[in-house]
Amino acid sequence: MKEPPVLVFDSGIGGLSVLRELRVVMPDRRFVYVADDAGFPYGNWEEAALVRHIGDLFATLIETHRPQLAVIACNTASTLVLPSLRTRFTIPFVGTVPAVKPAAERSRSKLVSVLATPGTVKRDYTRSLIAEFARDCEVQLVGSVRLATMAEAHVRGERVGLDEVEAEIAPCFRERDGRRTDIVALACTHYPFLANAFRKVAPWPVDWLDPAEAIARQASRFLPDRPSSLPEGFDLAVFTAGEIDYATRRVIHGFGLHT
Ligand code: DGL
Repeated sequence: MKEPPVLVFDSGIGGLSVLRELRVVMPDRRFVYVADDAGFPYGNWEEAALVRHIGDLFATLIETHRPQLAVIACNTASTLVLPSLRTRFTIPFVGTVPAVKPAAERSRSKLVSVLATPGTVKRDYTRSLIAEFARDCEVQLVGSVRLATMAEAHVRGERVGLDEVEAEIAPCFRERDGRRTDIVALACTHYPFLANAFRKVAPWPVDWLDPAEAIARQASRFLPDRPSSLPEGFDLAVFTAGEIDYATRRVIHGFGLHT
């Protein structure tokens, strides 16, 4: 019997930054990667509509692919829809939420920034993470309207202007009484693909915290020790808008996926 897949879900190709860590932690698993490109970007969606949209999409995805586990490789979705998905479906869901706790623990200056989409910075969930785990820090929430789209373009090989990147990340950098921001949590799965650009334009070096490895480890805890069968060949990628262009096809092939 074929091992049921692990479904990895994002609004676009940002979740590939999580898939690559999942593959490192569990190379013997089968994956289905789902990009809801018909709904991209999630950052500006109204909350109730996004909950309904993702819930309905998962009813079809679970029916079609019968996954043993779903990884919501998207902060904008996870900070909103995890409770309703867990209530509605029986499979386990692992989410991706802003790495506020590790950022607060590691920061020496106690000036921390969370770089996310406008949706994620608005969420009650994000604010309660800060209240619970970062009480000794000043946390700057930075919701970028453009970075997820810029990351999509960058991954597809298009040129992304460093000036524009600089303008988007500038609010992350703060100085207070001789202290400076020393950690920026990458709270959107698209952003690790721009990490080198961030380093180039940052006014001073900081630790860019990518939670993908921690998410992959968490996901592995929900799976049996050994898969019942080993996967062969490429894993499946599903794009909700249907046809994908040549550049996207090349990218997903690079990640061991086919449509
Ligand atoms: N990759 C998604 C996240 O982690 C967001 C991108 C979007 O705006 O849809 O938040």
